Amino acid sequence: MSTNPIFFFLTAILPYIALIILIDGIIYRLYKWARRPKAAATFTVYPASKGLTRALPKILGQIFLFPKLLREEKALWMGILLFHLSLVMVIVSHYKVFFRYLWFWENLGVSANSFALISDLFDGATGVIMVTSLVFLFARRFPKFLRKLSIPEDYLVLLLILGIAISGIYIRFISTINLLELRRYFSSLVAFTPSNLPTDPIFLFHYSLVLILMIYFPFGKLIHTIGVGLTQLLVRIRVK
Ligand code: HEM
Repeated sequence: MSTNPIFFFLTAILPYIALIILIDGIIYRLYKWARRPKAAATFTVYPASKGLTRALPKILGQIFLFPKLLREEKALWMGILLFHLSLVMVIVSHYKVFFRYLWFWENLGVSANSFALISDLFDGATGVIMVTSLVFLFARRFPKFLRKLSIPEDYLVLLLILGIAISGIYIRFISTINLLELRRYFSSLVAFTPSNLPTDPIFLFHYSLVLILMIYFPFGKLIHTIGVGLTQLLVRIRVK
């Protein structure tokens, strides 16, 4: 186990704190929203669906494709769509960071070489799409009109995710990390016996920024991802 107290705090204690804050913070926000006084009128969008199953396709369409934005601002729509796409791709590409994955490809008859190529292309595309969309979302805040409407948080959150993405690309394509060691570390965290603590500086940078993102998430503007889903649920389903 690392004797350096900063590494120890970062890799053996902070992950638990970040997870607790993330989960409790989201529950707290949901509780606060639920306790808000109800509006005198309902704002259901008609024709409203009677049940969740019928409304679900419309709700998912609004959450993932935001057609209203497509009508109003096509460039922004494209930037946000690509960013959300890269987030989904990050979830897929990070599967290998936490779990064994080769058996799946072997069962499909894909050779290790072919998998390495697919993985390079997929992870490379993930990094490029994420960085390009973030740079676009960052740059569009600079023209005078939007600069006036922007607060420091708007820039900082984009820089935070940009830092995560660039350090991730660096680990993936330049410095490389032992994924087996990393998986052992995460297994030990799950068993509440932190060991095999990682020491790679770029990985620690990537990881620390992710933990900061987790701590910030329930209190910042990114919580809208949950708020938008709930709002859609309220306006799409007929309330009796
Ligand atoms: C606890 C959470 C996370 C851990 C442990 C982690 C770890 C890693 C590791 C080890 C790599 C290199 C993969 C390889 O060598 O095959 C990587 C790559 C990357 N990470 Fe993360 N990461 C986490 C969360 C995130 C998040 C939240 C984002 C973005 C918002 C992100 C963005 C990226 C990107 C863009 C890459 C390069 C392309 C790719 O492999 O997908 N990571 N990450």
